[in-house]
Amino acid sequence: MRKLLLGAVLVAVGSISLGWVQGAGAQGKAAPDSESPTVSMPVDEIIAARQAAYDLMAADFGAMKRAVEAHADPKPLADGAKAIARWGHAVPAMFPPGTDKGHDTKAKPDIWSDRAGFEKAAANLGMQADKLAQAADSGDKDAFAAQWKATGDACGACHRVYRAR
Ligand code: HEC
Repeated sequence: MRKLLLGAVLVAVGSISLGWVQGAGAQGKAAPDSESPTVSMPVDEIIAARQAAYDLMAADFGAMKRAVEAHADPKPLADGAKAIARWGHAVPAMFPPGTDKGHDTKAKPDIWSDRAGFEKAAANLGMQADKLAQAADSGDKDAFAAQWKATGDACGACHRVYRAR
């Protein structure tokens, strides 16, 4: 089950980047950036995709909680942690200007008015999840449990400021 979810996360993240690459290609640009939007996907689809990726990540993260509670070997969770880290690093690009409304988004306007803060919160998730993957690889259950909590704090810190209830 965990493997299935993980696959789904990777597929979701993979297809998101594909959408960007196609969008960028149409504009003849190598990479999307906020100065020159290269979005070719409808706004509602971008929002739906990021919401789906968040749901998949939350399922992945929840499965880790159960593993921590069961004192299970964390090694098999390394790939899931790496997927969360990749998502953390990809997050800012999934919130381009113009995606503040639609598909019942909970994104707050602060994401665009305080872009630096939002990017920092996303980078923090990437960093904490990178450490989570390292803890998983080490096989150290206590280190993994502590870092799972630190990663969860990174989720909460961003939600408190940038996500509406
Ligand atoms: C950098 C900020 C940020 C971080 C870090 C972050 N989130 Fe979120 N999250 C958001 C925003 C913004 C939304 C609202 C997206 C929307 O509706 O467009 C959201 C939405 C969600 C949703 C609801 C998706 C839906 O179906 O609408 C879940 C579940 C979620 N996040 C879980 C997590 C978990 C678990 C973590 C940590 C492992 C996390 N988030 C880390 C900003 C963040």
